[in-house]
Amino acid sequence: MNQSMTSKAIVVLCAMLLSACSEDSAPPFDTNPNTSAGANTSVAPNKGLDFEFYVAAVEPIFLRHRGGFVGTDTSCVACHTSQANAPLGLQPLTSENGNVFWTEEQSRQNFANVAMLVNPSAPETSRLLLAPLATTAGGDRHSGGNFWDSVTHSEYRVIAEWIATGDPSAGADPVVEVDFEFFRACVQPVFANPIENAMPCMECHSGEFAVPPPANSYWTVEQSRQAFESLSYLLDPGRPESTRFLHKPLHPNAGGDLMHNGGRRWYSADDPERLALASWVRGEARGDQCPEVLQFDYPPRP
Ligand code: HEC
Ligand code: HEC
Repeated sequence: MNQSMTSKAIVVLCAMLLSACSEDSAPPFDTNPNTSAGANTSVAPNKGLDFEFYVAAVEPIFLRHRGGFVGTDTSCVACHTSQANAPLGLQPLTSENGNVFWTEEQSRQNFANVAMLVNPSAPETSRLLLAPLATTAGGDRHSGGNFWDSVTHSEYRVIAEWIATGDPSAGADPVVEVDFEFFRACVQPVFANPIENAMPCMECHSGEFAVPPPANSYWTVEQSRQAFESLSYLLDPGRPESTRFLHKPLHPNAGGDLMHNGGRRWYSADDPERLALASWVRGEARGDQCPEVLQFDYPPRP
């Protein structure tokens, strides 16, 4: 969430140093420990993808207006700004003299974020291509809806062509495994327990990730699996900063979402409960031994 501030600071620094800042010292984005972890250093920055091609042909796809204000009628950017915290993390648009656009600096940051979602060694497996593609054509389930009914759609083809400009030895970013056992033992109870002044998630999200436990007993393994599956669409493995369930209940003053009809559970990004959950999203917290902040008496343990 401080990425843009960090890069702004670096730009200012660059301006001060003038000569010291060549193209090669950019991009500054990999200074984020969450994104550079596990990166293959022998591969060109941003997987060797072509930036000019990206700006000319790919970025406009994210901006394209699709006629309406909801679901597949809206533009990718309507849902995918860094503020909304869905993957892609596009920068908020700059508005100047009635024009709305991304500055080159913003485009470079978008480029770095988008590069994380592609796999030049096997373009068709790229998350960027699978999310908007219809499931009947092999695409993934996508909360934003499916925009392309087949791989022959022009947008699909342009993006695939761009991905192919990347270094073929650059693969997909390693997928962090988020542990089911820890979810069942330590995360699920968070959704069932209220805190002072805040209802439990279960009050409103019971049909989704916050499945209610059976009366007087713990969730069955089946129920935990169902909740885990449902939550998987609200988390970005390895990246707490683009994980929606950590973002929605965080207060906007602390960098959370501007709107959540369910109120706020965390008033600081460093809330201990939230940090413990972030460590799980990063793949670090595993097993059934819960840290103190994630120990609840309800529901009763098996
Ligand atoms: C109505 C809101 C909305 C729109 C419009 C939308 N998305 Fe999404 N998208 C989301 C949300 C929410 C997620 C995270 C949950 C998920 O993966 O379904 C997501 C996830 C993604 C992901 C990551 C999938 C993964 O592997 O985790 C990609 C890539 C993506 N969207 C691309 C796009 C592109 C490209 C467009 C435009 C053609 C677009 N989205 C339009 C809401 C939207
Ligand atoms: C009082 C009801 C209520 C409570 C309690 C509540 N929410 Fe929500 N939540 C909503 C509503 C309504 C929406 C959809 C509109 C919006 O985004 O605010 C939503 C949206 C969300 C989304 C976005 C879903 C998507 O598909 O992108 C997430 C994530 C979320 N809530 C997480 C939580 C978590 C985690 C908790 C508990 C800490 C929680 N909510 C508690 C009502 C609630």
